[in-house]
Amino acid sequence: MRELSGEIREKIIEIIGDLDSLPTLPHVAAQVMELSMSSKSSVREIAKILETDPALTSKVLKVANSAFYGLKQQVNSLELALVVLGMGEVSHLVMSISVFSAFPDIPGKKTFNREQFWVHSAGCGHFARVIARRLGEPALSGEVFVGGLLHDIGKVVLDEKAHDVFTDIFTQAQEEDRAIYEVEKERLGFTHEEVGLVLAQKWNLPLSLQEAISLHHHPEDAEKAQFTVAVVRMADLFCKANEIGYGGDTKGFVFTEDVSWALVQKIKPEIASIDIEKFTFELNDEIKKVRDFINIARG
Ligand SMILES: [Fe+2]
Ligand SMILES: [Fe+2]
Repeated sequence: MRELSGEIREKIIEIIGDLDSLPTLPHVAAQVMELSMSSKSSVREIAKILETDPALTSKVLKVANSAFYGLKQQVNSLELALVVLGMGEVSHLVMSISVFSAFPDIPGKKTFNREQFWVHSAGCGHFARVIARRLGEPALSGEVFVGGLLHDIGKVVLDEKAHDVFTDIFTQAQEEDRAIYEVEKERLGFTHEEVGLVLAQKWNLPLSLQEAISLHHHPEDAEKAQFTVAVVRMADLFCKANEIGYGGDTKGFVFTEDVSWALVQKIKPEIASIDIEKFTFELNDEIKKVRDFINIARG
């Protein structure tokens, strides 16, 4: 588990300003997430909370009926969505929609392309889910999806709260063909992983998600949810290798030599039998679904 030292926290506050000015996670999303994690919650209970936010409800239903899920039946009520998709899946949907609205596009600020950023993030989340399922861990698919969606969220916080500094860092990393987090570390003394952790803690996200956000470049340091963090990292690499969206890191790598591969293989040795090339094709086929998802969930 990564702990933030007082010194790093101070440095972050110095750059991004008062933590109170960071977006809050809408109350409804926080409540739904909490309820969906408890085995005692009922569909009616969650639907009742969601109904208090009609805009959110209508987006949930739109995504539920989109090609992203490819359901055969029309889902026209929250209760049905909760039954057909499951409470966990709906809560992840709510989380995604809420994150998009917490960080809307800022007109005129173009260096760090937010549309591309979200394609990268949701692509990473979706691929992480496909990988978890392929490795026989469907119960973790929601957790790895949100972990993937949020892994680079610190970059958006930096783009929003320290726009000029972050634009400079982003440009330098591109020009020197280096990873953004390396340039961040050098210039700021901290990275988007730590900034993301500040937000994750403010939002009271579960520890597994805090680790996915704060350790996605260092999955070997994860203690609570190493499989989740390693799968998110792996999905991140898939996105980069296939230029899916733009997370802003262009640094080269050899996929099977990455630490995430070894970590996952330790827990799931069967990963060695996956034909990477074929799997990459399969994942690329999924990307249209991800774009549809983003368009509807952000629209
Ligand atoms: Fe990152
Ligand atoms: Fe990324």
